[in-house]
Amino acid sequence: MGDLLQKTTLPGTFPGLAQAVNGVALAYLDNAATTHMPLAVLEAMREFEITSRANIHRGVHTLSQRATDAYERARGDLKRFIGAGPSHELVFTSGTTEAINLVAHGLSDRAGGPSYLRPRDEIIVSGLEHHANLVPWQQAARRSGATLRILRPDAQGRLHPDELARLLTPRTMVFAVTACANATGERPPYEDLLALAREAGALTVLDAAQAAAHEMPRLAGLACDFMAFSGHKMYGPMGIGALAGARKSLDRLAPLRLGGDMVDWVTEQEASFAELPARLEGGTPNVAGAVGMAAAAAFIDGIGRTAIDVHLRALRAHAVAGLSALDGVTVLAPHAEQSAIVSFVAEGAHPHDLGTLLDESGIAVRTGHHCAQPLLEHLGTGPTTRASFALYNTHDDVERLVAGVAHALEVLR
Ligand code: ALA
Repeated sequence: MGDLLQKTTLPGTFPGLAQAVNGVALAYLDNAATTHMPLAVLEAMREFEITSRANIHRGVHTLSQRATDAYERARGDLKRFIGAGPSHELVFTSGTTEAINLVAHGLSDRAGGPSYLRPRDEIIVSGLEHHANLVPWQQAARRSGATLRILRPDAQGRLHPDELARLLTPRTMVFAVTACANATGERPPYEDLLALAREAGALTVLDAAQAAAHEMPRLAGLACDFMAFSGHKMYGPMGIGALAGARKSLDRLAPLRLGGDMVDWVTEQEASFAELPARLEGGTPNVAGAVGMAAAAAFIDGIGRTAIDVHLRALRAHAVAGLSALDGVTVLAPHAEQSAIVSFVAEGAHPHDLGTLLDESGIAVRTGHHCAQPLLEHLGTGPTTRASFALYNTHDDVERLVAGVAHALEVLR
């Protein structure tokens, strides 16, 4: 079975992975939480900080202009990376959470006049979501008087377009769904779901955080008004992400961060706001983060998203087969395609204990509810152990995971 990066190239490319943990070579399998950064990304950020560090859009001096150019170049590169068309714009945020908050707040805030969401409107959110794509909608519903409805998955955690068709009404104003469920690895048919919701007249929101590193949806080909993703899940830095979408939809959003750089003219009592994207980017942005995120996109495309996707599918299939063969282990969403996440429960072993024992063997996984409590309650599993793969993982890592779980189960049972 082939690996994408050879073991010998790893230390030079991803220095953070070339370390021992608890005396054993690290097998980093917590990539759905945060991926490691290649040297190319670290170098791009270092270069920016050394040669161009200054505030953007605010000075005529050379460093400020260099910083502005670097920031706007990063925006353009990322727009190309996600397949944005001429009618799209991309706004930098601190990550997916802020991006979705910006949408939910921006559609329900009344500060700048009547909000888009009104009493008795309906918001539909899928039941696969991370709390970041649920809690902001709970608040938006409260703030506006709208009703929040959930598109529930079936017992295997799958979403069905005909279920969504049943929920959509003329009052549905927003539909929000993930491109891949972080807690189970389920990859829903989001293309069809978004198209259905748009046909019914709703604004559509895609949480692409778990798809960015291998299956970045092509924005121009989707019925998607808002797409959110994070730098740190695609080999980029933490604290940077983006909200991309149709310019006319982004124009509907009330800004979340009021202050410098997002205004056009200010008097003591009034302010008029700037045009997009500045209107939604108040305050000093994370310019080095934007530069690093664009460098990460270039790194991904240097390897190729198809090659990465093929590799991740193979790792997941290997892990699903190996873990399912262990006594008393149940893998969630074993059928999932285009997914780099394998989440499982084991009879007689609490995920926290399992994760601790795996760590003793140098294997990093995430345990718990994965910020998706309603989904795990719906599936009746409770907390799980989750391994998630990135392009640098190898089939040897999967073998170590399966052997590590088998060993941990012997200890715990
Ligand atoms: N959203 C991240 C995860 O799924 C933190 O682990």
